[in-house]
Amino acid sequence: MTPMIVDHPLLQHKISLLRNKQTGTKEFRDMVTEVATLLCYEATRDLPLEEVEIETPITMARTKVLAGRKLALVPILRAGMGMLDGMLNLVPAAKVGIIGLYRDETTLQPVEYFCKLPVDIAERDVLVLDPMLATGGSAIDAITQIKKHGARHIKFIGLIGAPEGIKALHEAHPDVDIYLAAKDECLDENGYIVPGLGDAGDRIYGTK
Ligand code: PRP
Ligand code: URA
Repeated sequence: MTPMIVDHPLLQHKISLLRNKQTGTKEFRDMVTEVATLLCYEATRDLPLEEVEIETPITMARTKVLAGRKLALVPILRAGMGMLDGMLNLVPAAKVGIIGLYRDETTLQPVEYFCKLPVDIAERDVLVLDPMLATGGSAIDAITQIKKHGARHIKFIGLIGAPEGIKALHEAHPDVDIYLAAKDECLDENGYIVPGLGDAGDRIYGTK
């Protein structure tokens, strides 16, 4: 599967602001929220609908409402938390699970330190949130955990992906659709996305 690159002009503009190293912490955090809302709009395009009958002030009408399975949002700590409010803006009834992972700076392998998922996650459509898909190790590990809890309908939502991470995630979990605002050139020798936006967690929380 090729990833869905959501190339709406508003998204591309906001991603450029995120890439700019002059963008400060507050603006960066607000922008990640806005980008997440725009990505949520696209990633939920295929949600099933059902017809209901309602009474408007004028007449009876057959209209459509969401049907079927409910949603769960699973941000990967830390940086994925930056996307949560933006997603909840559009799907406020979604349950939220949290997976804590960090990438070992030397090996680039994900190290898991927390996992708390909704008890009924197996019955939900799951959207995994992380701004950066670099080697893909963190996303692959998080999705493996979520599948162990029985979930079968999973999408990955990120801001920027490297070709290496997109390929690795697709090979490990070919059933998972990938939604991104940009596909970048490559990884550098430290596993950072080029041109990327730097360390997403540090830029969201101002830790460097
Ligand atoms: C970043 C990012 C992803 C991961 C991507 O998190 O938010 O989780 O790196 O890299 P990968 O695709 O090579 O696994 P990081 O490990 O820096 O942790 P943090 O969010 O706590 O800063
Ligand atoms: N994690 C980040 O936050 N940025 C990258 O470019 C790669 C991994």
